[in-house]
Amino acid sequence: MLILGIESSCDETGVALYDSEHGLLSQALHSQVSLHADYGGVVPELASRDHVRKISPLTHRVLQEADKTLDDLDGIAYTAGPGLMGALLVGASFAKSLAWSLGIPALGVHHMEAHLLAPLIDRQSDALALPFVALLVSGGHTQLVHVRAFGDYDILGESVDDAAGEAFDKTAKLLGLGYPGGPKIAAQAEQGDPTRFRFPRPMTDRPGLDFSFSGLKTYALNTVQSLDTLSEQDIADVSVAFEIAAVDTLVIKCRRAIEQTGARQLVIAGGVSANTRLRAELTDNLTAEIVYAPLALCTDNGAMIAYAGALRMLGGAEENLSIETRPRWPMTELPPI
Ligand code: KG4
Ligand code: ZN
Repeated sequence: MLILGIESSCDETGVALYDSEHGLLSQALHSQVSLHADYGGVVPELASRDHVRKISPLTHRVLQEADKTLDDLDGIAYTAGPGLMGALLVGASFAKSLAWSLGIPALGVHHMEAHLLAPLIDRQSDALALPFVALLVSGGHTQLVHVRAFGDYDILGESVDDAAGEAFDKTAKLLGLGYPGGPKIAAQAEQGDPTRFRFPRPMTDRPGLDFSFSGLKTYALNTVQSLDTLSEQDIADVSVAFEIAAVDTLVIKCRRAIEQTGARQLVIAGGVSANTRLRAELTDNLTAEIVYAPLALCTDNGAMIAYAGALRMLGGAEENLSIETRPRWPMTELPPI
């Protein structure tokens, strides 16, 4: 089954072709980072308009690279939510009208389920032993999920305020590092002195698996304000203190989730799972096997949408012709695959 996948939930237009027999054939990504740079965050209307500009050329590119035509497609998967309403609508209306014109099915995919499944794209389908625990860490979500079966999710804990990626982004912004903050903080942290500042590990001193990251960003702000000037070394030192605290907090909660569930595998997915300190600390401190996707499949991309769509379509999922997106969409509402 050859599936075209389309991601447009935020500031990345991602398109990919996934073949259920031969794997990922091609993918293309356009990042809008420079478009939003002057505004210090994603401007929803600009995001939607740019998706409109890029979605068709990227589709042609992935088909060309895989030496396929529109007539070869068996289905089209698109991100139906969660995400920015206007941005989601661009992908959904493109996918559904193209599918209708070709006489093939279209299917809306849950963005976070697609992140969760991304580590499977380049693995054997039995690489994950159910049930397992997944840490979903992106710019919009921080969740610990007990995966009883694909499509059967139990939320063990989640952030009560900012997502982990959001805290990276906000801290980077106050340090003048720009967006997206995660990779910039990580790069600065390499030059930082990890002994100079010690940031708190929010909500780790009480039981439970929920997270809170907004205090960490405030702690970074207070630290910056306590300095007379902000030197290059100060930026690196605050970055490393923030990164260590954020990673440590995630590791403590993941260890708890593994102990609580007895799971033997921890899947980490979403943009923050690209963080090398997080990967290394989880590997060193947990008994469970840590599973993650290649770097390019951690942050938003079309391949994960094509893959999740293919799994669900092979499982018989279908939908009607109406165009519906869900800016808010709890994973627990998904049907089993
Ligand atoms: O999954 P994603 O691409 O988009 C959303 O669904 O939100 O995640 C983007 C988030 C951003 O907050 C970005 O700063 C963060 O992932 N991120 C990282 C790293 N690479 C991306 N955070 C920490 N370390 C990284 N290396
Ligand atoms: Zn994402």
